[in-house]
Amino acid sequence: MRAVAVPAFRATPEVIHVPKPSPGPGEVLVKIEYAALNPFDWQVADGLLDGRAPHVFPLVLGVDFAGRVDVVGPGENRFVVGDAVYGQAGRPPVGTGTYAEYVTMPQDAAIAGVPDGITLRAAAALPTAGMTALQILRTGVALEPGDTLLLVGAAGGVGSALTQLAAARDIRVVAVVRGDERERMRALGAVLSIDSTEQSVPEACGRVVLGGVDAVVDLVSADASSFETYARLMRPGGAALSTRGCAPPGLGVNFHLTASGALLDALAAAAVAGEIHVPVEGEYPLEKVPEALERNRGGGARGKTLFVP
Ligand SMILES: NC(=O)c1ccc[n+]([C@@H]2O[C@H](COP(=O)([O-])OP(=O)(O)OC[C@H]3O[C@@H](n4cnc5c(N)ncnc54)[C@H](OP(=O)(O)O)[C@@H]3O)[C@@H](O)[C@H]2O)c1
Repeated sequence: MRAVAVPAFRATPEVIHVPKPSPGPGEVLVKIEYAALNPFDWQVADGLLDGRAPHVFPLVLGVDFAGRVDVVGPGENRFVVGDAVYGQAGRPPVGTGTYAEYVTMPQDAAIAGVPDGITLRAAAALPTAGMTALQILRTGVALEPGDTLLLVGAAGGVGSALTQLAAARDIRVVAVVRGDERERMRALGAVLSIDSTEQSVPEACGRVVLGGVDAVVDLVSADASSFETYARLMRPGGAALSTRGCAPPGLGVNFHLTASGALLDALAAAAVAGEIHVPVEGEYPLEKVPEALERNRGGGARGKTLFVP
């Protein structure tokens, strides 16, 4: 089957042919209809998990997928052939990813059925970004209706998902973006957008939120001092969180997604309820993965990029 892989860390991804996998006991083989891009994909290609998990090379990239169960492995299984499913393929070894025509998934891993009314295309935009957003709201930062959340990097995949889920809980999202994204972020549910290329975020935030925000979720800072700039905008006793491991001890928490089928079920229910629909910014053939990954390194995401094998 065709797949996008790197032959070594930091090598340029390329389309190659690899053997089609077959499902073991308790697994399913999914025929992928859509895979979705996450920054995690190029971070893994750069060696993010080197030394922390076993890898196989050529390392097939990609974790998010939506598709249909093609083959059910031996033994009991909660899925049947033809089921519409979506999920995140994150189990070790790293390198059996979803930028491919097929992927195998254990039935008890981060895979769930796609309910009627949600297309596979819409489902493919949800797994990593949606689960991250939902888990941040459930366990990452404690927020009540009426609270204010400062969301840095709000226009991308996680930001779009978190803005919608927070707004559905009557949390007031102040979106920090680069560029004029007011219309877009308002449509997603943000009460205010701050263009960090035009305005000082502390000044603009301080003008509208007296006493500090209840929580800061920082999706972009790549070092502790940048994180601190935003974390200082929270009120005493507030919460600050980094998805990039940049929160120093005592100032905030570093979030790590724990993906699961149960979380995907909750996400699907939120999608059915109309609480979340992550915008798709483009749909491309697998051959475009290398170019799209390179572009994502430079920022500029406005929702999710999908690939059709
Ligand atoms: N720890 C975890 O478990 C976990 C889970 C999910 C994601 N993550 C990480 O969280 C980060 C965000 O993920 P994502 O999927 O949302 O990425 P994404 O879809 O690529 O979006 C990132 C967004 O940040 C914006 N941005 C970059 N620099 C900015 C700045 N200085 N101010 C405001 N906006 C800025 C980008 O747009 P502009 O460049 O136009 O500003 C883009 O819209 C990634 O590093 C990802 O790896 C971690």
